[in-house]
Amino acid sequence: MTEPETAPPPEANGYRLSFASPRDLRAIHRLEQIVFPGEAYGYFDLLMLLLAPGMINLKIVAPDGGLVGFVSGGRLFRIGRTWIMTIGVHPAHQGRGLGRWLLAACESLLPDRTIYLTVRADNTRALTLYRRNGYREVGVKPGYYPGGHPGIEMRKDRPLL
Ligand SMILES: CC(C)(COP(=O)(O)OP(=O)(O)OC[C@H]1O[C@@H](n2cnc3c(N)ncnc32)[C@H](O)[C@@H]1OP(=O)(O)O)[C@@H](O)C(=O)NCCC(=O)NCCS
Repeated sequence: MTEPETAPPPEANGYRLSFASPRDLRAIHRLEQIVFPGEAYGYFDLLMLLLAPGMINLKIVAPDGGLVGFVSGGRLFRIGRTWIMTIGVHPAHQGRGLGRWLLAACESLLPDRTIYLTVRADNTRALTLYRRNGYREVGVKPGYYPGGHPGIEMRKDRPLL
């Protein structure tokens, strides 16, 4: 498979975005533990995302070779909708446009016009990222996250080509 063609932001000079594979499982698991303390996907869930047909899994590798970003999104056949399942950038590399780059690259490879995601109601940073990129709040999921934190369901409707 060729690499996604979404252009990197200028601040992300030296970072490389490419498809993730099961070979990246250990590094992705480590990253998820850091960016979602106490509520990260486990090995099995991540492996399922990496193996699921049609799931778009992308990683960002820093100039020093470390995996510092990951996004996974695709169609959930059980509910017939496309979801961003997880997106995360290592704290030491945040604020350089890497999250925006991952999201745009993943979206560019998703065939459905409408994309959904769920975000913790107190995650201002992620909410800002999504709002600025065309997502709008469509519902609240009380107690969705560990500790009883509510989730906000968001949706983006892309224009027909
Ligand atoms: C959310 C996350 C992926 C964003 O990644 P990032 O690389 O820091 O984001 P970017 O540098 O691309 O910035 C994207 C947008 O986030 C917002 N943002 C960035 N830094 C911010 C800050 N310090 N405070 C608030 N918003 C901020 C801005 O809206 C920015 O858009 P802009 O560049 O057009 O102004 C990252 O913070 C992260 O991994 N957080 C922990 C995991 C998480 O919460 N994932 C989302 C779960 S739903």
